[in-house]
Amino acid sequence: MTQVLAGNWKMFKVRSEAEAFFQQVGLQIATSDVRKIVATSPLLIETALEFSTGTGIDIFAQDCSWLPEGALTGDTSARQLADIGVKGTLVGHSERRQFFGDTDERCVKKAELALDAELDVIYCIGESLAERQNQHTEAVLERQLAALLQIADKAGERLILAYEPVWAIGTGLTANSDQIRDAHAFIATLLLKKGLSLPILYGGSVKPANFKEISRVPHVAGGLVGGASLDAKSFIDLHTALLDSEI
Ligand code: PGA
Repeated sequence: MTQVLAGNWKMFKVRSEAEAFFQQVGLQIATSDVRKIVATSPLLIETALEFSTGTGIDIFAQDCSWLPEGALTGDTSARQLADIGVKGTLVGHSERRQFFGDTDERCVKKAELALDAELDVIYCIGESLAERQNQHTEAVLERQLAALLQIADKAGERLILAYEPVWAIGTGLTANSDQIRDAHAFIATLLLKKGLSLPILYGGSVKPANFKEISRVPHVAGGLVGGASLDAKSFIDLHTALLDSEI
């Protein structure tokens, strides 16, 4: 299965910084078999598209609307994103779920519209600290996946999952290999019951120093990386770690 390195720039960088990032990455990782992605703010997409040419990096958005169009001030539709040339979008990131009220139902609508607009989707799931401490991790993953599986027939090759334990995002706390192995195996089994085999990324404080070990965990197809994806050298080091995990 293809390995994936996906950067999530969140609300970081202005155009000059995005331009510098792609210039520094240059052609260094362009020809590898790893699928390389950077998800930017909508305002950086056109700059990212222009300067990522030749780098081998696909540009994604970080979210899209749950409606095809309409009176939703400040929102961006999947169709608008596809129209300016992005390849895909994140959906259901825990920061959207936590701070912007994205429910499972809404996330599935977003994913469906994105797939309809021929965008790829990285669909994020994961439990909070309280949910893990109360032994609810599997129930939460099952609920989040059950919603998505309603539209699995649309997925084709364009759906990627990301398991991101909420307590590990931006905290410096990484899930350990056992926790990652258990969660990924659980997700893969649920998918298999529906006849699906999708790439499953791990996300949550991934760094060049821990990525090789994480990528060696069974059913881990790569990473969704926030902080460590912002710096060009760090992005290249993540890419090297992912390639090394195969050896
Ligand atoms: P982090 O973010 O790598 O900074 O923890 C991951 C994410 O939010 O996707």
